[in-house]
Amino acid sequence: MLILGIETSCDETSIAVLDERGEVLSNFIASQIERHQPFGGVVPEVASREHLIHFAPVLEHSLREAGVTLRQLGAIAVTSRPGLIGALLVGVAAAQGLSYGLGIPIVGVNHLEGHIYSPFLQKKGTAIELPSRFLSLVVSGGHSSLYDVHSGAGRRIEMLNRTRDDAAGEVFDKVAKFLGLPYPGGPHIERVARGGDAGKIRFPLARFRDESTDFSFSGLKAMAIRTARERELVTASGEEVNEDRLADFCAGFQGAIVDQIEERITRIWTQLAEQGASMPTDLALGGGVAANSSLRERLTGWCAERRLTVHLPERTFCTDNGAMIAFAGLQRLLAGETDDSRQIIAQSRS
Ligand code: KG4
Ligand code: ZN
Repeated sequence: MLILGIETSCDETSIAVLDERGEVLSNFIASQIERHQPFGGVVPEVASREHLIHFAPVLEHSLREAGVTLRQLGAIAVTSRPGLIGALLVGVAAAQGLSYGLGIPIVGVNHLEGHIYSPFLQKKGTAIELPSRFLSLVVSGGHSSLYDVHSGAGRRIEMLNRTRDDAAGEVFDKVAKFLGLPYPGGPHIERVARGGDAGKIRFPLARFRDESTDFSFSGLKAMAIRTARERELVTASGEEVNEDRLADFCAGFQGAIVDQIEERITRIWTQLAEQGASMPTDLALGGGVAANSSLRERLTGWCAERRLTVHLPERTFCTDNGAMIAFAGLQRLLAGETDDSRQIIAQSRS
């Protein structure tokens, strides 16, 4: 069976064709980044209009690349939440029309489930078999959470922590914007950080009085912006910035995000072990920030120390894409979950 995956929750119009073994036959992504760059962030109204313009060409392109016709599709998976409501509505309305017209089932997909399962997709060949239980860390522009995922018949996803304020990707973007770096900021901070020394500028680890293992990145964001101002690291001023100091700053800031992620998952791991129950055997990383090499390296080491198998997503499956939505939809279909096409509701929150 072939599944069409539709993703329009934010600033990427992406449509993919996947088979029932999780092989990606096509995964076309039309990014709107250039349209939003002048504003330093996503403008919801612009995003919705761009999805409308690009939907049909992206669909045609994806079908052509997969070498299939609409009539060969067996099901449609579409991101129905969370995201920008106007943007979601474009994908959901189109999916409903296709499902109705073709007479095939539809599944609404939680965008975060797309990121959770994305590390198991491969550029070539069938998807890696899902472990019966794995930890999933999703770090994106809108979310930062660790999940305990049970696959198969008793499919279940339990959230172990979340961010109490900003998401990891969001602070990368906001600090980058302040520095005068282009949107989205994560890849640019990573690029600049490559030449820096993370030990030169250190940021404290966020802690809660109640010893919660939730993430919190807004204090780091405020401190980073204050530090950048004090050290005159803002490129937008028109004056030349000391490149070495900027690199040290970016390396320190990126390191602080990775440090907090490691500290939280270490404590959660200890808590799970203390509960005395069986432990997950694998850790999967997902979301746009999963493209960050520093985070990938740190988690690879963390897993090696605990003899866990680490699953890092291919770079094309880190940021938003239709293939991960089709794959998450496949998990729903395999578990016997489908939706009434007339009842699917786009929701801005998960
Ligand atoms: O998953 P995604 O495409 O969208 C959401 O669902 O939010 O993630 C986008 C986020 C942006 O905040 C972007 O700055 C961040 O992922 N990102 C990165 C890197 N590549 C993308 N952050 C750090 N390092 C990167 N290499
Ligand atoms: Zn995403």
